[in-house]
Amino acid sequence: MQNLIVIGGGELARVIIETAQAQKCWNVIGFVDPDPCIETTRRLGVERLGTDDDLPAYPHARIILGVGTIKVSDIRRNIVARVAMPASRWATIIHPAAYVSPSAILSPGAIVLAGAVICSGASIGSHCIINLGAKIDHDVHVGSFVHVAPQAALGGGSRIEDDSYIGMGAIVRDHLTVSQRTLVGMGAVVSKTFAPGKTLVGLPAREIK
Ligand SMILES: CC(C)(COP(=O)(O)OP(=O)(O)OC[C@H]1O[C@@H](n2cnc3c(N)ncnc32)[C@H](O)[C@@H]1OP(=O)(O)O)[C@@H](O)C(=O)NCCC(=O)NCCS
Repeated sequence: MQNLIVIGGGELARVIIETAQAQKCWNVIGFVDPDPCIETTRRLGVERLGTDDDLPAYPHARIILGVGTIKVSDIRRNIVARVAMPASRWATIIHPAAYVSPSAILSPGAIVLAGAVICSGASIGSHCIINLGAKIDHDVHVGSFVHVAPQAALGGGSRIEDDSYIGMGAIVRDHLTVSQRTLVGMGAVVSKTFAPGKTLVGLPAREIK
């Protein structure tokens, strides 16, 4: 068992703590957060170890980012830059009830939650979240800091560029590119490529301001 510290102590952190514990190879020794996050300690019995300034006191623990947003945001990227840990310190967390193809590649800091499927030849970038039941078909490329929300589906050979957010139940056509920093709303069906930084909703997906 390797020691693991979660950065963040809120809702997403609790899911990640339980996922890491289910994986049975991590000893979750605590979380760091500027807030006390008493619900996390009360519910899971996991202690707050301080803030991310206290991480150097745990030089042998692996770390995982447990802070999330339901939008396109630099919060996660900024935390990773601030803690400035080598890639080897970042854990990869995979729920035992997820399927990850042996030929798929997961980068450091990637998180795969229960029920997710990552198919042959897919690659998942650093610090991505592949949420509950999301389906990543063969040869999909997911960039860094992408969040694929529950039950979203990415068709084979599609490419999701960095920092994008794919909402709950959204569908991305096979072999299509979703440009950087795109926010795909829940339930959208993305059937063509848009410029970077757009918010897309509906069937077929259209841009909203
Ligand atoms: C697209 C989204 C980001 C827009 O949120 P918002 O900026 O707060 O926008 P609003 O809710 O004010 O909606 C703006 C308009 O778009 C419509 N709209 C919002 N989301 C929509 C969606 N997913 N599909 C279709 N229409 C949508 C609203 O009905 C509203 O229409 P109106 O102006 O005619 O009333 C949000 O609705 C969404 O889908 N977020 C992702 C949620 C998610 O995946 N959560 C997972 C948690 S793990």
